[in-house]
Amino acid sequence: MRRLAGKTALITGAARGIGRDFARAYLAEGARVALADIDIARARQSAAELGPGAVAIEMDVTREASIAAAVAEAEATLGGIDILINNAAIFTAAPIVEITRADFERVFAINVAGTFFTLQAVARGMIARGQGGKIINMASQAGRRGEALVAAYCATKAAVISLTQSAGLDLIRHGINVNAIAPGVVEGEHWDGVDAFFAKYENKPLGQKKREVGAGVPFGRMGRPADLTGMAIFLATAEADYIVAQTYNVDGGQWMS
Ligand SMILES: NC(=O)c1ccc[n+]([C@@H]2O[C@H](COP(=O)([O-])OP(=O)(O)OC[C@H]3O[C@@H](n4cnc5c(N)ncnc54)[C@H](O)[C@@H]3O)[C@@H](O)[C@H]2O)c1
Repeated sequence: MRRLAGKTALITGAARGIGRDFARAYLAEGARVALADIDIARARQSAAELGPGAVAIEMDVTREASIAAAVAEAEATLGGIDILINNAAIFTAAPIVEITRADFERVFAINVAGTFFTLQAVARGMIARGQGGKIINMASQAGRRGEALVAAYCATKAAVISLTQSAGLDLIRHGINVNAIAPGVVEGEHWDGVDAFFAKYENKPLGQKKREVGAGVPFGRMGRPADLTGMAIFLATAEADYIVAQTYNVDGGQWMS
């Protein structure tokens, strides 16, 4: 029996990276999946590669109208949404004295407000439908403590952990479980961008920071998107019904909490 047979899922930021692997894993478990992303061309390409059951939806999580339209399109195409993965995010880094207001506001608009208002829109639909649901937010080890060059991004992920707690406590009375996954360091285009920031600010050759962090993971290597899919599936099943407002570290032993 496939664990998500008959379920529908909306995954934000699913054009590439971890979100795309979540979509692949959910499809393999029998769900139908909307890959929602601001990069609609890439989302369409990924949905086509993933095959039947995957649809691409254009969505900018910073805009209310885009969130509403994307949720409505997902509901119209797939039926009511059973599972939301709030995965869209951006990374930014700079020394404290160089962070600009524009950069600070942009990362909060996507990672925090985007996560919250997407959760709100989907939760409203889940409540109206009356069948509960599962909401999984993507936090990070970066939300567990600050980092010298990563103040704004770390603060956004701490906010995601906090919002997961508050939304989890409020929405469980509607049968909606809100939980989060906190990855450590995960291979992919996202981390290539992170590596470029550190190359600039720590004066390292490209690729060196990546090798260093990989060697520092207790498991012995960086994570891969496939390392996270088991938790994303589990949290979306009835086996996780009694799990409320939690953030799970899936990070090769980086963080203990
Ligand atoms: N890769 C890591 O090492 C790592 C570690 C910890 C947490 N995370 C978190 O996991 C999640 C996925 O990370 P990833 O590595 O796959 O990132 P990624 O950068 O590869 O993918 C992010 C996706 O979000 C989309 N996106 C950006 N802005 C958007 C917007 N305004 N509206 C809609 N979509 C938008 C991008 O187009 C992209 O497809 C993120 O929340 C990230 O913060 C990643």
